Amino acid sequence: DWIMGDYIEEAVARIREQVGDEEVILGLSGGVDSSVAAALIHRAIGDQLTCVFVDHGLLRLHEGDMVMDMFEGKLHAKVVRVDASELFLRELAGVSEPEQKRKIIGRLFVDVFKAEAAKLKASGQGHKGATFLAQGTIYPDVIESGGAKSKKAVTIKSHHNVGGLPEQLGLKLLEPLRDLFKDEVRELGVALGLPREMVYRHPFPGPGLGVRILGEVKKEYADLLRRADAIFIEELRNFTDEATGKTWYDLTSQAFTVFLPVKSVGVMGDGRTYDYVVALRAVQTSDFMTADWAELPYALLKKVSSRIINEVRGINRVTYDVSSKPPATIEWE
Ligand code: XMP
Repeated sequence: DWIMGDYIEEAVARIREQVGDEEVILGLSGGVDSSVAAALIHRAIGDQLTCVFVDHGLLRLHEGDMVMDMFEGKLHAKVVRVDASELFLRELAGVSEPEQKRKIIGRLFVDVFKAEAAKLKASGQGHKGATFLAQGTIYPDVIESGGAKSKKAVTIKSHHNVGGLPEQLGLKLLEPLRDLFKDEVRELGVALGLPREMVYRHPFPGPGLGVRILGEVKKEYADLLRRADAIFIEELRNFTDEATGKTWYDLTSQAFTVFLPVKSVGVMGDGRTYDYVVALRAVQTSDFMTADWAELPYALLKKVSSRIINEVRGINRVTYDVSSKPPATIEWE
């Protein structure tokens, strides 16, 4: 619409003025905020932007390829994809405590990004390398980190953020979404030509599947979880609620699959199986501070369960999480 069109024009002019003929790097995660920031900055300065996409191997099924297809394939942005999955798996081996896993993932993420930024500088892509670091910070992030007053005394889960990164890299900050709320960021994303489906995705935590595999992270677990989760999400998008005409994906705020590294017995054909268990989690919430488990239709749960067990060899039991927040949290770790 014309209001968003005006907004884009203004934002583009502001970015051009701020950046001049310098260069910008941006860490692309596949999430909504960094994606919209990338699309907007690319609209403004084209090839003066280089996106660095660190693939930690804990993304959802085909997610990395989809990010590349969108930004490199369709938007023709410069994107460096770094496959760091082996590094992450190596460093996570033997670690099962959730906060420790988060810290390792956060630290490696920053390390890999910094190394890539330094490499880009050395390779002299452009005259002097990037002088700006762009981030998809949105207004609620600004408020959240603004007052020490609002900091909770106890950290329940340390969130994956990259505070202090621009200083460490000696870069100036470019944060074109700082004034926007989430729904405005989404509208902007659509107006910039990002697919609606990408822009209206459920939130996905920075540590990714790292906190959805309980305990120690292993490649085998991540591969099983990715396939099971893709089935759950596909069926949430397939099932429509008659009363509202909306899909169950849109009727839930966040939905995902959790991998439980325990084995249970089952039967399949004339054989006995002894395989892993997954839990389905779907919640409805307005602020993610409290959340109700979603009353998904039995027909949907039935379809998802039978598809996962039949299609994902290695998983023979599917459970549904009926815990609300509080006292449970949305993620299991
Ligand atoms: P919990 O599990 O605390 O989750 O009820 C609330 C919301 O925060 C997300 N979450 C995270 N996001 N890094 C993130 O970027 C994290 O470490 C992290 N832990 C939880 C969670 O997905 C939910 O939307």
